[in-house]
Amino acid sequence: MSNLIRTRKPGHALQQPFYIDPEFFKVDMELIWYRDWLFVGHDCEVKKPGNYFTVQVGAYPVVVVRDREGRIRAFHNTCRHRGSRVCTSAKGGSARLVCPYHQWTYDLDGKLLFARQVADDFDPAAHSLKPVACESVGGYIFICLASEPADFAPFRQVMAPYFAPHRLTEAKIAHEETTIEKGNWKLVWENNRECYHCAANHPELCKTYSEAPTMTGVSGTDSDPEMVEHWTRCEAAGLPSRFNIDAAGQYRATRAPLLPGTESYTMTGKRAVRPNLSDQVNTDRIGSLMLFHYPTTWNHVMIDHAVTFRVIPISAEETALTTKWLVHKDAVEGVDYDLQELTHVWTATNHEDRRIVEENAFGIRSPAYEPGPYSQVHEGGTEQFVDWYVSFMASRLGGQKKPGLKDVA
Ligand code: FES
Ligand SMILES: [Fe+2]
Repeated sequence: MSNLIRTRKPGHALQQPFYIDPEFFKVDMELIWYRDWLFVGHDCEVKKPGNYFTVQVGAYPVVVVRDREGRIRAFHNTCRHRGSRVCTSAKGGSARLVCPYHQWTYDLDGKLLFARQVADDFDPAAHSLKPVACESVGGYIFICLASEPADFAPFRQVMAPYFAPHRLTEAKIAHEETTIEKGNWKLVWENNRECYHCAANHPELCKTYSEAPTMTGVSGTDSDPEMVEHWTRCEAAGLPSRFNIDAAGQYRATRAPLLPGTESYTMTGKRAVRPNLSDQVNTDRIGSLMLFHYPTTWNHVMIDHAVTFRVIPISAEETALTTKWLVHKDAVEGVDYDLQELTHVWTATNHEDRRIVEENAFGIRSPAYEPGPYSQVHEGGTEQFVDWYVSFMASRLGGQKKPGLKDVA
């Protein structure tokens, strides 16, 4: 891998093994997925003590649960007796976590409360569920599987002010769906980070989303008067909006306008949900707050709803993409919104993107595949993602390559 990183042509797609080789996939898992902060779900999915959801990251089953004090915690979902999964469903609620195999029973803070007929000298305190680092910011829960996680504070500092007004901690999930895409996780990201493909592939999204490179790009776009006007107007209304990217290029937040006369991702461009997503945000034309955080999430937050995305790799050539639609907690389906209208644009767009990613993966498997050049006009975002990946991997593999952040403002 180090050799291929060294010989990669800058401004070009990656070489074939990065997308198909199971050994490369293992290295991705070890050096990125088992080490970095990963978005797994929302605070509002574990509203009450005892609510939990499970997630599988590579080899690690994890359970995320709200404890009795209201704190969100994560644990390795493997019993301290003989290793069975303790929580076996995708979501649930329980006063205690009970292993289905021999009923060892854990409190919501992971402590072992009860184990039947064990030796007299058995020490329950030494058999708590193993904790996984867990943080929540702006209604988003992140976990980190590393024993010594990177400092979460710098990301929190960037993300919190952008998301606080939208009160996603109090929202509800109106709908969610998971798509399995037959392509490497990096192909899913590369596709997401450009809109060079939008005009020809996304008739639904193009009704409201501008394909201008400034939307997906990574240069600050201070020179785009439409963006500057949008930021100034939204910030005057108390909504942090200006483009903000971290020095290493791992995450970015910005608020972008939608096409003139539109305010939400629907076929008409009109809002899909009657009440605003947040009681605190009543400004017109706020467009979409867009966040990405590599390697797991990109997001759109509009006036009436939010759409969040979670990327989880399954194998070298398979990736799960989970999409969630969030609305005001009191919004009632069939009264305040029509589910089909709310979800149509992104369901269709996901379907189109799945096809694109799978065709991309198909072609890359050819022995004749050779990485081609990115469009300098439209694919700055994709190049930024690949540069982030390459420099991250190079530094973790002990290579010398410096971060390639030439496009970062
Ligand atoms: S494996 Fe969990 S109680 Fe036995
Ligand atoms: Fe797309």
